[in-house]
Amino acid sequence: MADDFFIVQGLGGKKTLAGELPVRGSKNAALPAIASALLFDSALTLGNIPLIEDVGVLGDILEELGAQVKRSGNGDLIIDTRKVNATALTRELAKRMRASVILAGPLLARFGEVSFPHPGGCVIGNRPIDLFLEGFQKMGAQYEETKDGYKLRAPAGGLRGADIFFRQPTVTGTETLMLAAVRVCGTTTLRNAAMEPEVVFLANLLRAGGAQIKGDGTPTIKITGSDKPLRVPKKTPRVIPDRIEAGSFLILAALAGKDISITHCEPEHIRILIESLRTAGVALEVGKDSIHVREPRNKTEMYKSFGIKTHEYPGFPTDLQAPSVVFLTQTDGEALVHETIFDGRLAYVKDLSAMGANITLWDAHRAAVKGPMPLKGRELHGPDLRAGLAYLIAAIVARGKSVLHNVRFIDRGHERIEERLRAIGVMIERVSN
Ligand code: EPZ
Repeated sequence: MADDFFIVQGLGGKKTLAGELPVRGSKNAALPAIASALLFDSALTLGNIPLIEDVGVLGDILEELGAQVKRSGNGDLIIDTRKVNATALTRELAKRMRASVILAGPLLARFGEVSFPHPGGCVIGNRPIDLFLEGFQKMGAQYEETKDGYKLRAPAGGLRGADIFFRQPTVTGTETLMLAAVRVCGTTTLRNAAMEPEVVFLANLLRAGGAQIKGDGTPTIKITGSDKPLRVPKKTPRVIPDRIEAGSFLILAALAGKDISITHCEPEHIRILIESLRTAGVALEVGKDSIHVREPRNKTEMYKSFGIKTHEYPGFPTDLQAPSVVFLTQTDGEALVHETIFDGRLAYVKDLSAMGANITLWDAHRAAVKGPMPLKGRELHGPDLRAGLAYLIAAIVARGKSVLHNVRFIDRGHERIEERLRAIGVMIERVSN
């Protein structure tokens, strides 16, 4: 899979795609759920885990520590961490995925120590872990920074509950500290915590195992921990649908769909995108777990542009910023895009401009998109997972053929996306080297 590429025949702006686009389980909810297996008293089974690269890497890391990770016949993932006997994440695996830092909290709480290299992952700017380290210190941990990474140690009596204020909301930071807090004595309060649906899902999973957590989904989360392991719930927890995949499909459906149903999704999790697209004139109907997009009745009327300012949930997700800019290239007007979360997330703009988009990059955080501009197919190298998806949407909308390299980034988060796209009429082919 390492050097796979996609060949896409674009639709040249026509809206011809039709059928069903099912959304798979969320990568960013699956990863902390898998990490939580370290806190359970026996093998944890999780449903709706997508078959993606990052899940495989996290499974490999856990296996290296001594866990057993396998898929059951029906696709559920079973993680047994009872035999875990190591706490050092190797450089080779951890560097492949920044999210591996999620393991720091549960390992530290359960074994009293953890070491990990500086986290790798997508190239989307500066991604420090100072807030994680400060949180663990508040819980009593000592840390040492070596040339290879970080080593954290709990004090003799173990970590203790603490009052932690995040200077900036952090999704993985909230999750890994929550995972530590359920396994240590005392009460931990996380303030200015992330409110993302993935955090709420994790809290639900931990509660199903007996954890005492209140306030998830708000900025203040209170966790009363215990040094006992959690009990595996009787009913297999199912990972929530991937809201970023759902949102990207929605944008594709608005740009190239005649009649598309996006199914197995949670529309409330992308309310901000739905409201923005409605304002733009997209004809969509929202069901309980599906969104139906039709070609607008008046085929000559253009969609109207809208401004974007990325924000923590429930604001505009940074992970949908790049796909949304592709949408804006096809709308009437000028829109300002302000990326407030990461500083390397507008790097893809250059390639969209080369396809024919009219985008002015003001600085590392702001761009202006003027539309509508027809896009031309070309050779593209996706710089990260979400921009990769944006390129894929642009290639489908464009006139002519595109070759999309770095498909491995898309594979990190989306399960065999080309098969689902082909089913609605996209002319896409995967070429494996
Ligand atoms: C999560 O990353 C997601 N990843 C990202 O999705 C997503 O873009 C991001 O949240 C924002 O929504 C996972 O859930 C695995 P953060 P995370 O800590 O948790 C700063 C994808 O493509 N910060 O919430 O790593 C940080 O630099 C990925 O699926 C610190 O300053 O993001 C950023 O500006 C990419 N110090 C902001 O906080 C810290 O110690 C938010 O980052 C931690 C974070």
